[in-house]
Parts: sequence; C-alpha cells; structure tokens
Amino acid sequence: MKTIKEQYYIQAKQWMIEAGKIIRERMDQPLFIETKSGRNDLVTEMDKNIEQFFAARIEQTYPNHRMLGEEGFGDHVTDLQGTVWIIDPIDGTMNFVHQQKNFAISLAVYEEGIGLIGCIYDVMADDFYHAIHGEGAYKNGVRLPRLNERLTLEGTMLACNHFWLCTNKLVSYASMEKLVRSVRGVRTYGSAALEFAFVADGTLDAYMSMRLAPWDIAAGMILVREVGGVTTTVYGEKINLLDNGPILTSNAGVHGEIVAYTKHKK
Ligand code: IPD
Ligand code: CA
Ligand code: CA
Repeated sequence: MKTIKEQYYIQAKQWMIEAGKIIRERMDQPLFIETKSGRNDLVTEMDKNIEQFFAARIEQTYPNHRMLGEEGFGDHVTDLQGTVWIIDPIDGTMNFVHQQKNFAISLAVYEEGIGLIGCIYDVMADDFYHAIHGEGAYKNGVRLPRLNERLTLEGTMLACNHFWLCTNKLVSYASMEKLVRSVRGVRTYGSAALEFAFVADGTLDAYMSMRLAPWDIAAGMILVREVGGVTTTVYGEKINLLDNGPILTSNAGVHGEIVAYTKHKK
C-alpha cells in the first residue's frame, strides 16, 4: 500500500515525464518569446502551455488541492493551508531559448506548509531528481548519499550569477569578493531548480541567488533537506516560502562560513 506522498510522487513523475516529452517534441518549432519584468526576463508559449498542462491535470485529479505556478494559471495562493502544488513549468527559460538545454520542470507538493515531495526534471539530459519527506532524495531512482559535512570553504564549489558582483545592494562588493576568493570555484548554470538539484547530488556545494520565487525553490529545498543540506536567506534566516528573496542553499558543513560573508545586510 503506497502512502499518500508516494502516490503524489508517482502521479507527479508521470505528468512531468509526459510534459518533458511534449517540450522535446516541440523544440524545433518557432517560439513566440515575450519579456515580463525586463528584457532579461523571458517567457515563451511553451512555459504557458506546460503550466496549463499541469493546472488542468491537478484540477481534474485533485479538485480540493490548490496550485501555485509562475505563469499564473493556477490559484492565487497567499498561504500554505491544505495541499498546494508549486510548479515552475520551465525553470531556466533563457537557457531553453538560447541553448535548448539546461532547463528543468520543478514541482513540489506541500501539505499544511510541509514539503511532502519535490521533483526536478532536467528535460534534455533526462535526469529526474525527486525527494520524499523523510524518505531521502534520489537521482534517476538511485538514492543520493547524505552530504559529507567535513567540507571547508577552500574545497567548495559555489554557484551564483554575475549580478552578485555587479550590484552592491544585498551583500557588499567587498564581502562577495572575499567569498569568491575563498572558495575553490564559482559556476553559473542559469536554472535555480537545477542548481538546487546539483547541491543535493554534490555537483555543487552551495548556490546563492538574489531574488528567487516560491516556484524556483519549492522542490529544490526538499531535495537539499533530504540529503542533510540547509536552505536559508543569504543572511542565514529562515525562509518564508511565499516570499521572494535572496536565497542560499548549501552543504551544512559550509553554510555558516558562507553566511559569515553574506550576513551583513546593506
Ligand atoms: C530563473 C532561473 C534563473 C534565476 C532567476 C529565475 P525562470 O527562472 O532560475 O537561474 O537566476 O532568478 O527567475 O524565469 O527561468 O523560470
Ligand atoms: Ca524559475
Ligand atoms: Ca519559469
């Protein structure tokens, strides 16, 4: 007998694989690309179609559940009461448009504010990450080991984007410079969901981003938590999932050391 969270996972995975197939099949068709908050904030009809795909299925299968999606086809969610599906239909739209790879579908199910399942599907690599509350995190069905906390900053692979180095607003230039000089290397992948998944599987040790939304982090936080990692604001504070803000997710062994650089609010 499957538990309710295992049932959600099986259902979510089936829909995500189906959605991934649709994306791959339509990849070569011309895209209608629009901008949202600015010229770097892209959305395509694929983002919208895929979110509608999930909204229709969730509404039909779980009429009492709510859905929060980036493109607005779900419900207007202002609290996490009951069961809420949080979906980013394409995380890394800019990669989708320019590279045709390195983007993901991100889906999480929260019940009364607790993350039950988190799934991230790297569509082109066909890598499926999932985590079930209290039952661990997996990549392509293989359980991910708990992160080794015997890690120092000198051995840390950090992901962040260049905006940290060209805005002095959230953390000072001086602190960011010290941080990037202290770690082993810095990488940028352009998909928050994938960067969370990479922290969970040890490809990265930490990822920080300036302004992430609930759909960027909802699934990734569960993956990272299930391997012993920590997600907070860059100032080391507890996250309110429904807020947008600067986020740090990392191996617990270096979380405090990173926050020591980033904790001073400007
Ligand atoms: C974006 C990506 C990007 C991150 C942005 C997100 P989108 O999501 O995750 O890596 O830096 O903050 O908004 O718009 O491609 O779904
Ligand atoms: Ca996103
Ligand atoms: Ca998106």
